[in-house]
Amino acid sequence: MQFYRSHVLVCHGTNCSLKHNRAIREALVQGIKAQGLDKEVRVVETGCFGLCEQGPTVVVYPEGVVYCQVKVNDVPEIVEKHLLKGRIVDRLLYRPAELKPVQTYDQFDYFKGQVRVVLRNCGLIDPESIEEYIAQGGYRALGKCLTSMSSDEVTEVIKNSGLRGRGGAGFPTGLKWSFARRAAGQPKYIICNADEGEPGTFKDRLILEGDPHSIIEGMAIAGYAVGANQGYVYIRGEYTLSIERLRKAIDQAREYGLLGKNLFNSGFDFDIEIAIGAGAYVCGEETALIESLEGGRGEPRIKPPYPADYGLWGKPTVVNNVETLANVPVIIERGVDWFRSLGTERCPGTKVFTLCGDVVNQGLIEVPMGITLREVLYDIGGGIPNGREFKMAQTGGTSGGCIPKELLDVPMDYDQMAAAGTALGSGALLIMDDRHCIVDVAKSFARFFVHESCGQCTPCREGTMQLYRIVDKMTRGEAEEKDVQLLEALAETMRLSPLCPLGQTAPFPIVTTLKYFRDEYDAHIKEKRCPTGTCKALA
Ligand SMILES: Cc1cc2nc3c(=O)[nH]c(=O)nc-3n(C[C@H](O)[C@H](O)[C@H](O)COP(=O)(O)O)c2cc1C
Ligand code: SF4
Repeated sequence: MQFYRSHVLVCHGTNCSLKHNRAIREALVQGIKAQGLDKEVRVVETGCFGLCEQGPTVVVYPEGVVYCQVKVNDVPEIVEKHLLKGRIVDRLLYRPAELKPVQTYDQFDYFKGQVRVVLRNCGLIDPESIEEYIAQGGYRALGKCLTSMSSDEVTEVIKNSGLRGRGGAGFPTGLKWSFARRAAGQPKYIICNADEGEPGTFKDRLILEGDPHSIIEGMAIAGYAVGANQGYVYIRGEYTLSIERLRKAIDQAREYGLLGKNLFNSGFDFDIEIAIGAGAYVCGEETALIESLEGGRGEPRIKPPYPADYGLWGKPTVVNNVETLANVPVIIERGVDWFRSLGTERCPGTKVFTLCGDVVNQGLIEVPMGITLREVLYDIGGGIPNGREFKMAQTGGTSGGCIPKELLDVPMDYDQMAAAGTALGSGALLIMDDRHCIVDVAKSFARFFVHESCGQCTPCREGTMQLYRIVDKMTRGEAEEKDVQLLEALAETMRLSPLCPLGQTAPFPIVTTLKYFRDEYDAHIKEKRCPTGTCKALA
């Protein structure tokens, strides 16, 4: 094995790919060669480390110096100054406002409150190298399960860890596994839900791009626990880089005997196939996903029966989110007590969030459950840019709740967010400053649900359209007070009657804006005025 004195990591997450990172990588390889350093310095493509706003990033190890917003033209200076002469290129370091430039990750405020469990390898290893994953302890947890634990013991560890599904509903993972294990019928299946259709949510994509082997390992452990020999990753077609890396990782795992027959000589067989979805939000709902995987239209099934009893091709099936599965190997490795030492009593562990909108440091973060939105927004996110005021955060994706500044101190876990009348959901955090019109924002939520309703049941198909019509009337100054009551009654009907959570939660973001920002609705309805000047019909 070749040893190098220096490794240069170039972020190859999707966000940085949009900013010419392949050209940067190529320029680094060529520049290093031209200086005769190619036997000493190695360039590595990594997944996203989370600093999306500052990308493309280039990190030079062993010093750990982070260069931000690098352009192809900056590469010769990095090669000559840093890699040849050992001097840091000061002008490419991150500069927080009025503070000294920051050299290494541990000096970024952005990373100080973060705990990286799921993202443990993202941005640090080459996601296309199984050797690098193994060098970080990868596949050890699978080995431990197959050689020294029974299936029941594995399920018990996950149950006792208190891990709850990170796909949105927060259902206890170990319990779900035990249902599938006990269910009658063979074969059984494990499905990794990588559909991720909610606008603003991209955590699963970046986990898959940055550390695909952790998902393969998590799925194989889940398979062993429930008695399934086949897994599927259902992934949206637009996620080309994730698909490419996952394919390579599956091939490598097969080559190494970590997928396929008789893993670790235990007699346990497990393999994984990739299924590509066409990109409908509803196909992320587990039963619609199963219908789609079977080759049908992506329409939700009536539950019960739940997939643990009647899933893919009518057989017992576990559907788990990408982030949920990425937690599994670490829990097996480090144990229940360690996992429970993170997060809150009822929601142990960490949560990966995508931080977007009007916030200084946008990107991918991982924090202990129970952190407040204020800490995320101001300590990690760096606050609102351009001296503007915080107005609203939407938590939990497009079907999540909208909260005002009075709720910034609610601890973020599944239960405490629900008790405060909002949702943690899948972990998308959309921040909006005082320039945004709440009614206009509500209209864009309504439009999204009109588009995404699968049309199978009337309260959702017609209800989403009526929601849109009412809010649209408000933005045009044509609504009356009775439209608010109509909207509330419709929202209640939709909460109770549609077949799946898409229709049930569609009014939720609108209802929360109505609850917390009633003044702004009143201005549109009673005064025919849009306080932010966004609604052109009211200008
Ligand atoms: C409309 C809709 C879309 C969903 N999209 C996703 C998704 O993209 N990814 C996901 O993991 N779960 C999604 N879910 C939740 C899944 O139905 C399911 O609860 C989840 O995959 C279970 O995994 P977990 O227990 O690991 O969270 C969605 C649910 C609904 C109602
Ligand atoms: S609630 Fe909406 S998305 Fe869900 S099944 Fe009914 S029509 Fe389809």
